[in-house]
Amino acid sequence: MIIILTGTPGVGKSTISKILAEKLNAKIIDLKEVAGKHKIILEYDEKTMSMVIDESKISKAIKAEIEKNQDYIIPSHLSHFISPRIVDFCFVLRCDPIVLERRLEKRGYSKQKVAENVMCEFLDACLIESIEMGHKKHLHEIDTSNKKPKEVVDEILDIVSKKKKMSFGEIKWIKDF
Ligand SMILES: Nc1ncnc2c1ncn2[C@@H]1O[C@H](COP(=O)(O)OP(=O)(O)O)[C@@H](O)[C@H]1O
Ligand SMILES: [Mg+2]
Repeated sequence: MIIILTGTPGVGKSTISKILAEKLNAKIIDLKEVAGKHKIILEYDEKTMSMVIDESKISKAIKAEIEKNQDYIIPSHLSHFISPRIVDFCFVLRCDPIVLERRLEKRGYSKQKVAENVMCEFLDACLIESIEMGHKKHLHEIDTSNKKPKEVVDEILDIVSKKKKMSFGEIKWIKDF
C-alpha cells in the first residue's frame, strides 16, 4: 500500500507521517531524496529551497524504491504528482491560512515565501492539482487547524480501514473572509 500525504508546506505532513508510519508499520519515503538519487530534479532554488521535479519520471523512480509486502507513506507537497495508478490513498492536509502563516513565520521562511504558501493554501492549490492528476477516487481532505496530530492520524486510519467515507471539497477558506 502507498499512501501519499500532500498539502502546502507547514500543514503537518511530516509530523503526521511519523505517527502514522509507526501505527501502520510503514516506511516513510523521502521524495526529495528519491528525486535526487534518480536525478529528476529539474530546478533547485537555493534561496527558497524549493524544487521542480520531472513529473513524468517520478512514478518510475518511486516504483524502483518500493518492495513488495511493505507499506509506504510519502509526505510531500509534490507527492500528488506520483501516478494515481500506484497510489492507494491520497490525503490532502489543510490548515487555516492564518494558522499556517504563523507556523511558516516561526519556521523562519522569508516574507515572500510565507505569502506564496499562504496564497497556495487559500486557493486550494494542492487539492486542485491532486484532482487534476487523477487522485479523485482515493482522495480525502482533512482540516488540521483545530486538530491534534493524533486526531488527524486517527482520521487517516479510519479512512484506510474503511470505517469512514472519503470526502473532499468542503474546505473553503475564502468564505471565512
Ligand atoms: N494538527 C496538527 N497536525 C500537524 N502538525 C501540527 C498540528 N498542529 C500543530 N502542528 C505543528 O505544525 C508544524 C507542521 O510542520 P510539519 O509537520 O513539518 O509540516 P509539513 O511537513 O507539512 O511542512 C509542526 O511544528 C507541528 O508541530
Ligand atoms: Mg515536511
